[in-house]
This record gives sequence, C-alpha cells and structure tokens, in this order.
Amino acid sequence: MKAMNSFFVKSVLGTISMLFALSISAASVQDDMSREAIAERIKPLGKHYVAGESSAAEESSGPRSGQQVYDKYCTACHTSGVMGAPKRNNAADWQPRLDQGMETVLKHAVEGFNAMPPKGTCSDCSEEEIQAAINYMTEEI
Ligand code: HEC
Repeated sequence: MKAMNSFFVKSVLGTISMLFALSISAASVQDDMSREAIAERIKPLGKHYVAGESSAAEESSGPRSGQQVYDKYCTACHTSGVMGAPKRNNAADWQPRLDQGMETVLKHAVEGFNAMPPKGTCSDCSEEEIQAAINYMTEEI
C-alpha cells in the first residue's frame, strides 16, 4: 500500500512536472512565434524609414503643407506678432485683413506689404504654398 502511494505521488508529481515543462516549452514556442511576428511587423517599418529618407527629396519638390511653410518661415513674425504681424489664429488681428478678400491678402503675402517681406521670406514658395500657410494661420478664425 505504501509502495502504491509513493508510486502514485511520484506519477502525479511526474505528470505535473511534465505538464509544467510542456507549458514552458509551449510558451517559449509561442514566444518565438511572436518574436517572428514582431520581426515581420517591424520589417515594413524599417523599409518605410529608408523610404522616408528619400522622401525628404520628394518633399522639397512637391507642395509643402501650410504648417510646414508656417513653421519654417512665418512663425518668426506671426507667432509673436513682431512689427504688427497678425498672430496665428488671432481673430482680432486677422478679421480686418480677411475682410479685404483672400485675393488681396494673398497678393500682399506674395508681393510683400510694409514690413511683411515678399513671400514671407520663403522665396521658393509657390503661391499655392503661401496660400496654404495663410490658411494654416487663419484656420481657427
Ligand atoms: C519678417 C517678419 C515676417 C515674416 C517672416 C512673415 N511675415 Fe507676414 N507679415 C508681417 C508683418 C509685419 C505683417 C503686417 C504688415 C502690415 O499690415 O503692415 C504681415 C502680414 C501678413 C499678411 C496679411 C496681409 C494683409 O493683406 O493684411 C499675410 C497674409 C502674411 N503676412 C503672410 C505671411 C506668410 C504666409 C508668411 C510665411 C511664408 C509670412 N507672412 C512671414 C511680417 C512677417
């Protein structure tokens, strides 16, 4: 009876440890699989990053967004409002100007107007890009 008992205990322990070992190896297989899956998911990102480098060249040939132009050229004056520059999204600054009509506002921005330099110093900006920057400066008005 005693021998039976210890056999029983041993086999139960054996089963438990086998299950334990199995579940560990299953977990590590799963881990390997998810690592592979992660590697798979990261791969296109890596490619994207390389492509992103060459898209810097594409960016300069395509139209820049209003925000890109603003952040690079217009922010120097239009964020603080130096020399009376209308501040971004400040309705009091912008409303009387917008009342002239967008055509005039754009013309002033492109050709320059008092202390406002032609094209806001973005000499290689297209009219389209200047317009986009104006839209960005007035988007919440
Ligand atoms: C060196 C400072 C400076 C920079 C840089 C600058 N501006 Fe200005 N801008 C001004 C000032 C000052 C005025 C106000 C001129 C006035 O009414 O006498 C102004 C006015 C304007 C107006 C209103 C024109 C109107 O008809 O009332 C627009 C539109 C404008 N800027 C767009 C831009 C854009 C777009 C950029 C960036 C590409 C830019 N500005 C960069 C100083 C600047």
